[in-house]
Amino acid sequence: MGRGLSGAVQLSHFFLQERLKPGDRVVDATCGNGYDTLLLAQLVGPEGRVWAFDVQEKALAATEERLAEAGFGTRVALVHGGHERLAEVVTEQVRAVVFNLGFLPGAPRETVTTPETTIAALEQAAALLLPGGIITVAVYRGHPGGAAEGDAVDFWAAALSPGRFNVWRCRQGNRSEAAPYLIVVERFPA
Ligand SMILES: C[S@@+](CC[C@H](N)C(=O)[O-])C[C@H]1O[C@@H](n2cnc3c(N)ncnc32)[C@H](O)[C@@H]1O
Repeated sequence: MGRGLSGAVQLSHFFLQERLKPGDRVVDATCGNGYDTLLLAQLVGPEGRVWAFDVQEKALAATEERLAEAGFGTRVALVHGGHERLAEVVTEQVRAVVFNLGFLPGAPRETVTTPETTIAALEQAAALLLPGGIITVAVYRGHPGGAAEGDAVDFWAAALSPGRFNVWRCRQGNRSEAAPYLIVVERFPA
């Protein structure tokens, strides 16, 4: 039996599947083990383009392997660098930017997303969004530094203009307040 929309990542995939079309340009801001990148590459198809960022070579290698297995390697540019360099690397507008915050599962936890770089990247992501484009942010508050980062993301999202963006904060009503949640930012469609 499946678990459906059991977490923030599953919910982000639900929104991405609704919004993305073949040929779209999109960004995975934290590619990690490559699960989100794989979905993005599948949704944008052979004419689309994905930029996938991570600061850890180990993460990029795992993502590269996953993409190669699926035959999607050529539609993805792997970027070994921080997502705070987003606008330097991606110079065209995009339909989606995906953030899955925290640390790489199965790796030492020293390398973790931080409020300063996450907010810098979110600012750039919002500026790169096409009309109707979305940013998804899976937020984890449980690890050291996670609550401060979550607060920073919530504060950033709450300050976005209601005349330009829809902002949703989605958390499960039957889970603890500490459970991961999803922020979805949609630029108003044209
Ligand atoms: C929760 S994991 C991502 C999981 C991934 N999306 C997946 O599908 O497997 C978070 C990732 O963010 C990466 N990261 C940390 N700081 C970063 C930064 N400034 N820019 C880009 N990636 C960063 C970590 O190395 C880690 O791989």
